[in-house]
Amino acid sequence: MVSSSATRQLVVIGLGLIGASLAAAAKKYRACERVIGVARREEVCARALELGIVDEATCNMDDLRNKLGEGDVVFVSVPTLAMRNILRQLKDCVPDGVTITDGASVKGSVRDDVQHVWGYLPEFVVPGHPIAGSEKSGVDAYNPELYADHRVILTPFAESGRAHIARVTALWSSVKADVVNMDIALHDEVLATTSHLPHAIAYSLVDTLAHDSQNENIFRYAAGGFRDFTRIASSDATMWRDIMLANKQDVLSAIDLFLNNMSRLRALIEKEDATALTGVFTRAKAARDRFTLMLSHQAYSSHSMQNSEPKNLSYSVKPGGKAQGKIRVPGDKSISHRSIMLGSLAEGITEITGFLEGEDALATLQTFRDMGVVIEGPDHGNVTVHGVGLHGLKAPAGALYVGNSGTSMRLLSGILSGQQFDTELTGDESLTKRPMNRVANPLRTMGANIETAENGRPPLKISGASALRGMHYDMPMASAQVKSCLLLAGLYAEGETSVSEPAPTRDHTERMLQGFGYVVEREGNTAKLSSGGKLVGCSIDIPADISSAAFFLVAGSICPGADMTLTHVGINPTRTGVINILRLMGANITLLNEREVGGEPVADIRVQHAPLKGIKVPEDQVPLAIDEFPALLVAAACADGETVVTGAEELRVKETDRIQAMADGLSALGVACSPTPDGIVVTGGTISGGEVESYGDHRIAMSFAIASLRAQAIIEIRNCANVATSFPNFPELAREIGIPLEIREE
Ligand code: S3P
Repeated sequence: MVSSSATRQLVVIGLGLIGASLAAAAKKYRACERVIGVARREEVCARALELGIVDEATCNMDDLRNKLGEGDVVFVSVPTLAMRNILRQLKDCVPDGVTITDGASVKGSVRDDVQHVWGYLPEFVVPGHPIAGSEKSGVDAYNPELYADHRVILTPFAESGRAHIARVTALWSSVKADVVNMDIALHDEVLATTSHLPHAIAYSLVDTLAHDSQNENIFRYAAGGFRDFTRIASSDATMWRDIMLANKQDVLSAIDLFLNNMSRLRALIEKEDATALTGVFTRAKAARDRFTLMLSHQAYSSHSMQNSEPKNLSYSVKPGGKAQGKIRVPGDKSISHRSIMLGSLAEGITEITGFLEGEDALATLQTFRDMGVVIEGPDHGNVTVHGVGLHGLKAPAGALYVGNSGTSMRLLSGILSGQQFDTELTGDESLTKRPMNRVANPLRTMGANIETAENGRPPLKISGASALRGMHYDMPMASAQVKSCLLLAGLYAEGETSVSEPAPTRDHTERMLQGFGYVVEREGNTAKLSSGGKLVGCSIDIPADISSAAFFLVAGSICPGADMTLTHVGINPTRTGVINILRLMGANITLLNEREVGGEPVADIRVQHAPLKGIKVPEDQVPLAIDEFPALLVAAACADGETVVTGAEELRVKETDRIQAMADGLSALGVACSPTPDGIVVTGGTISGGEVESYGDHRIAMSFAIASLRAQAIIEIRNCANVATSFPNFPELAREIGIPLEIREE
């Protein structure tokens, strides 16, 4: 500890769980030179000394006089309503300049106390709040690891001095806490709902059962639910009484909100409204499941939900793998998105099977839940959507967050332009860099009111109640997302909406609209529809995603001895570019058992190893294989001769710039390639081992995992967490066919 912000002596006032744990942690991690404990009772001081968590302990604040100076920190950890009195004594016996911080759960009242005692907000006071604790209390409950990977919120005043803030930050960091700064008002409001309200409810519930219930033996019959739910009602009673009083206004608002919701729930039970009850419970379950997932990835409360970084995963794939067996890859991503959208806008119930439970499709599902649609599942690919009709969506409480998913954002922008309420669409870091003017501009021409961030990037702010007019649009690029967006807006636009595409793109929206009973006409390269119709709920069996199957089609083609079958794969002709291109390269691919399922053609696909040759990829195949190029370029790296891709500039605006990302990775593996503005030239040859970066793009990560089948050494692939957006069980299926893929957490 030689930094200038290091703490010299740490004084801990109040040796309950919070104070004793900081004292113990400071000693364990040598966060300071000396720890002095102050407690009200002699036996607590004696015990703290005995436990070795302090170097010195006293019951008398006056003992601090003349002992403290520059570099010392006083941490006050006493019940909130005792704070003022302690601060008064501190002012009296500690010289100005010693840093003072605290651990109280309410910060507004601390600010008032400080103001009251000093008459102003001194620079040496830096209020804080460690978000850690347990239902145990007292010095014996101390835990030096209590703060490790836990969040500590500092709420400095505008007046707090930088050096003092730095010192408190360094102190918490050295006991392994994750320090963030927050505004006092926001802190108290957030904590009122996430912490103070649950405590109020838990105490009140236990009190209800203990005192108001007719049955005095009631606890005997209480099972796990009661135990789990009420654990926090064993916490320190004085502390919680004080918190409720100190944060009175915010706590009252939180209780009102809850009582409101509770009486709505009561009414639903009274009316026996099963659908609405399903809505409440499925929405809450989804939120809790996500929270559970977050906890399994990250320490309790150390990250907020939407800003949570995906866990940093790497793949390490050994060479010498096989490609053998019969597998079914997960459901089609494009169709999964559309099934939720159209199911929600339909009248009646839509039953979906084969739904892709990947992050992108789940993001779409969540947005419709946020707009009041009752959606059951997903449970093993089964989803039930209780459609609300074209005009039944409700205003969401906040922004609609779609994570990494461009399809969600672009298609939703069409639907949302036709609503009566305002919305905001936000996404993750990668999505926030992607172009949205391709949908925003034509939607504006139809009369929509959309604001984007600079250069047409997300977030999108869409004003409701705009009168949309149908129009004809000649798409400048071949994009199924743009086409779908405009057709969906067309459901709400006066008259006819038609879209022409420069080359065929996936037509799932058109097919599915028809499946829901909505007339869509197709004339040449133009799709058109008129408003005024309705969608009727139906059943949708989603085929396996050819874009996910593509990795295994390439694996089977490049791996000597391979023989694999991929079952129930969607082979819609607007998606089979990957098969056509691989066949042109010499691949041995057979379609078996061709059939039609719910308006989409499906087949089992057998792929056997075959020597590949380089080709000039026909430009008309590019939109039909747009998502499969990362995998196809791995095939090109294993082919004899040169493969030339042109007319594929769209690849530069996918989840990442896929031309550059593949060029970087292939070069790192010793494969000769040269990117061009609208494509790439790859010369087949030897694939060495090495490290490649996926740039957080799912398809880049999976492609290089497949490349290992022909690599000479291990391939390490960085930044693979986003594979979960489209293909959550890719590692398992890769291992099942014989690819030795290991996942590393960093
Ligand atoms: C998609 C269309 C394609 C594709 C994307 C899914 C869709 O995007 O790349 O993964 O579901 O409509 P573009 O429309 O931008 O080509």
